[in-house]
Amino acid sequence: MSIQYYEKENIFQLNTQTTTYLLGIVDGTYVGHIYYGRKLRNCQGAYAYLRTKDAPFVPSVNLREKCSFMDAFPWEYSVYGVGDYRESCLIVRTESGYRGCELSYVSHRILEEKPVLAGLPSTFGKEGRQVQTLEILCSDSCIGLQVVLSYSIFEDSDVIVRSVRLLNTGQKKLYIEKVFSACLDMDQNNYEVLVLSGSWARERHMTKYPLRSGKHVVSSNRGESSHQEHPFLALTSPGCTQDCGEVYGMHFVYSGNFLAAAEDSQFDSVRMVMGIHPEGFEWVLEPGSSFQAPEVVCIYSDQGLGKMSRALHDFYRNHLIRSPYLHRKRPILINTWEAAYFDFDADYLVEIAREAGTLGIEMLVMDDGWFGHRSSDDSSLGDWKVNEEKLPGGISALVERVKAEGLAFGIWFEPEMISPDSDLYRAHPDWTLQIPGRVPSMSRAQYVLDLSCQEVVDYVYECVASILRNADISYVKWDMNRQLTDVGSSFLTGEKQGEVLHRYVLGVYQLQERLIHEFPGLLLENCSGGGARFDPGMLYYSPQIWCSDDTDAIERLTIQEGTALLYPLSCIGAHVSTCPNHIVGRITPLKTRGHVALSGTFGYELDITKLTDKERERIRKQIQMYHEYHRLIQDGDYYRIASWMDNHLYDCWMIVSKDQREALVTYVQVLAKANVKSRKLYLKGLDEKSCYRLEETGELFGGDLLMYGGYLAAPEKGDFVSRLLHFRCLDE
Ligand code: GLA
Repeated sequence: MSIQYYEKENIFQLNTQTTTYLLGIVDGTYVGHIYYGRKLRNCQGAYAYLRTKDAPFVPSVNLREKCSFMDAFPWEYSVYGVGDYRESCLIVRTESGYRGCELSYVSHRILEEKPVLAGLPSTFGKEGRQVQTLEILCSDSCIGLQVVLSYSIFEDSDVIVRSVRLLNTGQKKLYIEKVFSACLDMDQNNYEVLVLSGSWARERHMTKYPLRSGKHVVSSNRGESSHQEHPFLALTSPGCTQDCGEVYGMHFVYSGNFLAAAEDSQFDSVRMVMGIHPEGFEWVLEPGSSFQAPEVVCIYSDQGLGKMSRALHDFYRNHLIRSPYLHRKRPILINTWEAAYFDFDADYLVEIAREAGTLGIEMLVMDDGWFGHRSSDDSSLGDWKVNEEKLPGGISALVERVKAEGLAFGIWFEPEMISPDSDLYRAHPDWTLQIPGRVPSMSRAQYVLDLSCQEVVDYVYECVASILRNADISYVKWDMNRQLTDVGSSFLTGEKQGEVLHRYVLGVYQLQERLIHEFPGLLLENCSGGGARFDPGMLYYSPQIWCSDDTDAIERLTIQEGTALLYPLSCIGAHVSTCPNHIVGRITPLKTRGHVALSGTFGYELDITKLTDKERERIRKQIQMYHEYHRLIQDGDYYRIASWMDNHLYDCWMIVSKDQREALVTYVQVLAKANVKSRKLYLKGLDEKSCYRLEETGELFGGDLLMYGGYLAAPEKGDFVSRLLHFRCLDE
């Protein structure tokens, strides 16, 4: 990997493991995009791709048609107001109310490090591995604005991490109405758009459609990254598969509002952009102050979606997730939510722990309902005092009883929220997000705390931390169960109300940063009404995120497939729950539920005190299975073999250890079919020269045969049945 500046050619060349990114400077002023794709040996001849020899030419040659130049040039960072009519990345208003910005190259530097972004999640270099950052300084002297475009590359990865920093160098305030983090101008190549979309309990379904003229937008203005759309956008070559075709992806390291767009415009050009959603956003940039936009992870794959997925998985494991649990075995937990909802007391929890302990479960997680007078979701958020009627002696007494059964203890919080029926609300009604004179909209009978205010952040932190200081708690599930409305703060002036949404996210980040700093051994799991804040931003704080409130094994196939497109399986919160499933009412075999949850963090969420002997036996086997395969699943390479979304019959994926000596295939026959022969599963990622033994049967296969000839999966009777195939390499 390397970043080179070719002064004669005015070109920067960024080389990652297998990709090259080229940008150039025209007339010493305009920073333009030249190329992103397969690795190139050098940049010879590349300057021509800026098309400065095409009419209307550059302004220094043809000033009378400057607008046409601005609107056709492939910008590295597009700005609003002086002639580029495509989607802009930056809109700045001056004190006098004028909008318009023009950036000129000033200087650049190449750093041998990856700078940390203060207050934001940021990817990092790794000890002993090279990392470099190119910073290009641009300025608009008319309004006194400097813009730093930043690009980081990593020795062991194929991604390019981009971000932008703004600095007000003038004497007057600037109002930032829009600031995106990345822009990519390319030529249209018949691309298709790939996004992840859904709803509550239907998160991250893969959706593809052709890119036609105009703008294709995915976004969230819900205050969080959301169930509905994901802060990811990819352009793929037509018909791109898991193994073939080109992919250009952008993934936002941020947990609040976002917007990503692909615009197909005149002259067959395509622009991809990503950043904080401009709706409701405005940042007052005081003279001398700066604004740091969050990072975008950019990725290019010339070998389909699979290569992109594996590159992102490795990148997030090596350069984003900080938790000591990253490679540590996660405890097998039992969560009380689907087992009891709000209806529990200490004795019942201890009974669950006792039963769980006999089966080999390692941690009890007490979910919602342990505080204030909360016996439904109507009250008490904000009153983080234990309900002694349910839990006499408090949490520490309960923890000791649970520990006596041999289990560690975890707890649920929803710290960002406040119930109107709470002592906190009665004492501080001004602590909620609200617009004066308007009653805020409730959702799940709750309001949102104003985390743009430091006093509120400090209070919330103390609530959570004091509970953790006073009991031996190993795990926290940090939930967030409604989206934001009435986004106003009683603590900010009218001029700064546009900052609330971003300040809220910074408040969440600050809280979690303090938490993992004070409790470094804590296992933190983020959650938001299921998977509404499953994003790279949260991964910086927690190594795992609850994937969806839909725990049905068949629904989970699609949700987990979409999630695993971008995230390592070790991040995906997945539990075995009861049947009929509480969300969809489907009945699936316990075995299948176990196989699907195994491709995630693995745990249970059912009333374990009411199991049959057969079910108990199955759970024992599942726990054994987890102990056997957790390392492979946590650290291995993920390959998608078949998708039930596409074929409507079966699903299949596999994990291969980095040394290719072990592989685990999960095969789910979703629907049975009459009168069929065995089905071929074309395995991937094996060593073609090695011999593998299928542990279940002892059969031997060449790696090449399994990949190119396929493994023959016999038809099974019944719907929703699954198999786990464990292959071990026999060669020395
Ligand atoms: C959210 C979570 C659930 C559970 C409930 C508790 O919906 O996703 O897992 O914790 O809140 O209210």
